[in-house]
Amino acid sequence: MFLRFLTVVSVFCLTGSLATQAQNKPQHQTEFKPGAVWYDDKDEVINAHGGGLLYDKGTYYWFGERRGKSASEGVNVYSSKDLYNWKMEGLALAKSTDTTSEIATHGLMERPKVIYNPRTKQYVMWFHLELPGQGYKAARAGVAVSKNVTGPYAYVKSFRPNGHMSRDMTLYVDDDGSAYEIYAARENYDLRIVKLTDDYLSATTQDTLLFSNHREAPAVFKKDGKYFLITSGCTGWAANRASLHVANSLFGPWQPVGDPMKGPMADITFDGQSTYIQPVQGKKNAFIFIADRWNPKDLKDSRYLWLPISFIANQPVVQWTDAWTLDTWKN
Ligand code: DGJ
Repeated sequence: MFLRFLTVVSVFCLTGSLATQAQNKPQHQTEFKPGAVWYDDKDEVINAHGGGLLYDKGTYYWFGERRGKSASEGVNVYSSKDLYNWKMEGLALAKSTDTTSEIATHGLMERPKVIYNPRTKQYVMWFHLELPGQGYKAARAGVAVSKNVTGPYAYVKSFRPNGHMSRDMTLYVDDDGSAYEIYAARENYDLRIVKLTDDYLSATTQDTLLFSNHREAPAVFKKDGKYFLITSGCTGWAANRASLHVANSLFGPWQPVGDPMKGPMADITFDGQSTYIQPVQGKKNAFIFIADRWNPKDLKDSRYLWLPISFIANQPVVQWTDAWTLDTWKN
């Protein structure tokens, strides 16, 4: 009798939890919920960490680290027309099965960013590459290319820009088509910028120290001719306080202007770490701050924090909100 009671209870609990899971999997999303589980078109949890977005011919593409529990499994890409609903496009850059390759299974590919080069008509991906079996020692920039935005990307090479270590990084294409890598160098004590060659495949010698504040996770955007750069401190996977720098030129000088985060857990970036800032197409001065809420016990299960950037006295502010829509911007 008692056993029968237990069976009834467990069947009830199971159906109950399946029902809750189903409720959590909306087919069509109409808002952003920072920190919530985010599903793709196949009802799989989106696996695109440390990522970056590219807007190309009317579609947004989200590139990010495909993670296992701890393994780095290559770079995933998703596509979306509306930024809320994402279609899984597949593995844009796969790890190599050749054990002698620089991108063999046991190395790391982190913080992938993709830009389009109109001269060569190629999509160019840069990422933080760590060589197999060396932990975070190699500190190199990796480059891969494709004729198609969703890939597959072919691995080209890796290097240290002008001999500098290159760990956390982002890419930025300015209005004149010049592209730059902003990267953490000298064991993350320095944040540097280097201009890319015209084909976006290599670093030029135009390479400058931005500041030596032990910062990483750079995310940059431009508004009204000013550049804004959000970074994190260096505490591994643990969240810490963000900081904002502003400059009239990408090469500096960069002025520190404090922490732009506001709301609960603002002092630790809402338990997250910056990765990218995406302008919203068709809206004026509309930028989305994108961060990772890392789960080092199961990296693929890390969450995403997407929040709107507002401006108070021309300074960017990232105010926490549990849910929001693109209607935040009226224009
Ligand atoms: C912080 C970096 O921002 C992440 O991309 C990752 O490299 C972790 N450190 C590893 O601890």
